[in-house]
Amino acid sequence: MSDIITVVAPVNIAVIKYWGKRDAKLNIPLNDSVSGTLDAKVMCAKTSVCVRPDFEEDRLWLNGENVSIYKENFQKCLNKIRILAKEQKSRDEKFLTWKVHICSENNFPTAAGLASSAAGFACLVTALSKLYGVQTDVSALARLGSGSACRSVYGGFVRWHAGSNPDGSDSIAKQVVDSSYWPEMKVLILVVADNKKSTSSTKGMIITAKTSELIDHRCRVTVPSRVEKMCEAIKRKDFPTFAELTMKDSNEFHAVCLSSYPPCVYLTDVSNKIIEIIHRYNEMRGSPKVAYTFDAGPNACLYLLEEEVPKVISLIKYFFPSSSETFIKGLPCPDLKEEFTNELQISPMGKDLIKYVIYTQVGDGPFELNDKNHLLNENGYPK
Ligand code: DP6
Repeated sequence: MSDIITVVAPVNIAVIKYWGKRDAKLNIPLNDSVSGTLDAKVMCAKTSVCVRPDFEEDRLWLNGENVSIYKENFQKCLNKIRILAKEQKSRDEKFLTWKVHICSENNFPTAAGLASSAAGFACLVTALSKLYGVQTDVSALARLGSGSACRSVYGGFVRWHAGSNPDGSDSIAKQVVDSSYWPEMKVLILVVADNKKSTSSTKGMIITAKTSELIDHRCRVTVPSRVEKMCEAIKRKDFPTFAELTMKDSNEFHAVCLSSYPPCVYLTDVSNKIIEIIHRYNEMRGSPKVAYTFDAGPNACLYLLEEEVPKVISLIKYFFPSSSETFIKGLPCPDLKEEFTNELQISPMGKDLIKYVIYTQVGDGPFELNDKNHLLNENGYPK
């Protein structure tokens, strides 16, 4: 039997955003948040871990590169798991003195800013918990690596409860519904061509917490009631309410970012155009049929029901013409009727402003690969 454990974990995209920390060391957030976990068959992180007596030091390889494992967030996860294993006596003492090798990859470009750290840390702590045999709330472990990662340890729609304990013990994620509950729910990710390096989430949150006069209102007033309404809307499969709450929360989150000093600016002209087009489209259809949401970057994530997908893809192709053959593969894309595009009263944009589109759906949480398809070879080094 191999002593290598390999896990695959999904990304998640929040519909009620996490922004701001009550405790930066423990990654305890100021507010609850809610997200959809996306199908790991389309976008995922994969991590192999292994402990051996002959390893000289803890080592980490990320996307093919040997990187330092001594970064704070990796150390927090690894230390916590070793402490738990010792307390729980889940492995013998010798095993706990041996070093670990970790090799991790994303199947999508990290640079695209697509929640890669969420998938990565969910994957890492799931694999290490199995390796060390610890029994614990895996979401709390993932949170130590990157806050939003705690939501990627479950499938379906997930709520991260901010909690109130100083030690973060009640700051954990819980599933709202599983991935089979609302199977019509699909997701389009519009990867916006943009090379600008934006402020990282971790840094942006610090600036916002220190300087924004709006964040307090968001955390005390708007988000608490919005989170409850969102969970209810998901359970009722009430798309119009889900969509309105999602868009309002994305807009408020970016307003809070803009109210920081200096401002954290994540949306670009293309992002704003997408927002305009979606609102026009929803107006024309008489109720919200598509919801946009933006994280700390210009890429749009659209939540929509399956029946809307062909029309919305056509809409995107019309307004954001692409010279790429692989702009979006394998999806129906009927021509838009002229009356329809005329009614929207927006002209198509220049070419290639959207790099590509990913079509996916709400999916399951992390799972172990038992097919020997490890990233580490039999000596415990990257293949
Ligand atoms: C805008 O989880 O990346 O995507 O806890 O500092 O690692 P750290 O931040 P991170 O923040 C994600 C913020 C967000 C909103 C969200 O996913 O809820």
